[in-house]
Amino acid sequence: MTDELITMAVRKILDAQHLIAFTGAGISVESGISPFRGKGGLWTKYDPSLLDIRNFMRQPIESWQLIIQLFYNQFQHAQPNGAHRALAEMESMGSLKAIITQNIDNLYQRAGSVNIIEFHGNSRQLICTGCNTVVPVDPAMFKTLPPVCENCGALLKPDFIFFGEGIPEPAGTLSFSEMETADVVLVIGTSGEIYPASSLPVIAKQSGAYIIEINPESTNYTQSITDCFLQGSAVDIMTRLINEIRLKISALPGIN
Ligand code: APR
Repeated sequence: MTDELITMAVRKILDAQHLIAFTGAGISVESGISPFRGKGGLWTKYDPSLLDIRNFMRQPIESWQLIIQLFYNQFQHAQPNGAHRALAEMESMGSLKAIITQNIDNLYQRAGSVNIIEFHGNSRQLICTGCNTVVPVDPAMFKTLPPVCENCGALLKPDFIFFGEGIPEPAGTLSFSEMETADVVLVIGTSGEIYPASSLPVIAKQSGAYIIEINPESTNYTQSITDCFLQGSAVDIMTRLINEIRLKISALPGIN
């Protein structure tokens, strides 16, 4: 991956009026969390229909066992990586306005980011399928499966969306609005396979945004909407970007 591309991307980032990031599972791979597709992908080992909402309601115990194995067991050992930290630093500089993520692993919050829109919900809390009561996750809840609501006794599910469920609000509306406003979008670690999330960068492009894509592999976006393809891992590329951004900012007059 050439330095010229990094320099061009940094110039676009620093000149941006409304820079946002759109991220997928790939940004957390270097934190030890499996992606869904491609090398080591969960869906190369498990049938994704197991995470369909109808299957969850039909066989909650088996579904909960898989959810704990696929997500909660991985998340409890994961730490934010250099890419999560770089995004948090860009937000604290006032450069990055929002992160729209498909991820549910809470690593952005733990890296210090604040304006995070979780397009697929999050794993930090459970929601009741009967009365919509929301409770923070406590590992003690997993001692007896399936966890049930103390309020009404109905089944509790993680507060992230399963296949067959709608996009949570206000995350959905906010995401589309951000994509229509953005003039530069960092698309990091997503295969662009899952609709409607996959349509978000396309909406930004149609609204005139410059698309910078970070991924070791090319994707549905690379040959269609991507303006600057930074081929490599999220940690490597984001580390190079943030280092160059710090250099450029420190060279500005009046910055000591
Ligand atoms: N750095 C950056 N990108 C990486 C890295 C890395 N170290 N390793 C892998 N990738 C890329 C892969 O090349 C792939 O393009 O991350 C992408 C992961 O794609 P998916 O596993 O499909 O993840 P994502 O795009 O987030 O999936 C979208 O699908 O199953 C649903 O709800 C689930 O939110 C998920 C959605």
